[in-house]
Amino acid sequence: MKFFIDTANLAQIQEAHDLGVLDGVTTNPTLMAKEGIKGEAAITQHYKDICAIVDGDVSAEVLSTDFKSIIEEGKKLAAIHPNIVVKVPMIKDGVKAIKWFTDNGIRTNCTLVFSAGQAILAAKAGAAYVSPFIGRIDDTNWDGVELIAQIAQIYSLQGYKTEILAASIRSALHIVKCAEVGADVCTCPLESILGLLKHPLTDIGLAKFLEDAKKM
Ligand code: E4P
Repeated sequence: MKFFIDTANLAQIQEAHDLGVLDGVTTNPTLMAKEGIKGEAAITQHYKDICAIVDGDVSAEVLSTDFKSIIEEGKKLAAIHPNIVVKVPMIKDGVKAIKWFTDNGIRTNCTLVFSAGQAILAAKAGAAYVSPFIGRIDDTNWDGVELIAQIAQIYSLQGYKTEILAASIRSALHIVKCAEVGADVCTCPLESILGLLKHPLTDIGLAKFLEDAKKM
């Protein structure tokens, strides 16, 4: 399973990259706004900065919602860097646009996916990635990881090539569960990635080793 970081914060992207486990980045309008990125020139520069840190796929989301504008915006985003993947919402014009991008050699990430039916549509349209939002599903008292498992089973049975990119990750446990059920990628906040490091027995064991090392 690949690890993407779900942020537009350059320091956090650098930290995850320096850990040596980072395969890519996902952003969305909320994450870009959080970093104060405003206007086309600043948005373009920020994606260039991200691509300069990480040698892997970087999802850049369109802000348009009608077919023609999604295409225009997506073409501009894709032209920024070969690693840019155009992130398109799961709406009717979005699906049409994903098919157009697929036919024209532009890779897409279909975002805001909350059901297996939506994931089938994304795959049929040729999305490179489908992004089910598991944390937001958990928030509604449904099981987000179960959706990942269902999509993984359908994609495997049907031979769909779209990669399952588990999104809206809230914990290290989410990452482990997504790996268990066959997600291809997990896009995570930095804290969830670092959370994988933690175990109290590791801390206790290391403290003891360091104590005993003084006797060596
Ligand atoms: C990633 O592609 C999504 O935009 C992101 O994971 C959403 O996460 P959130 O539910 O924590 O906002």
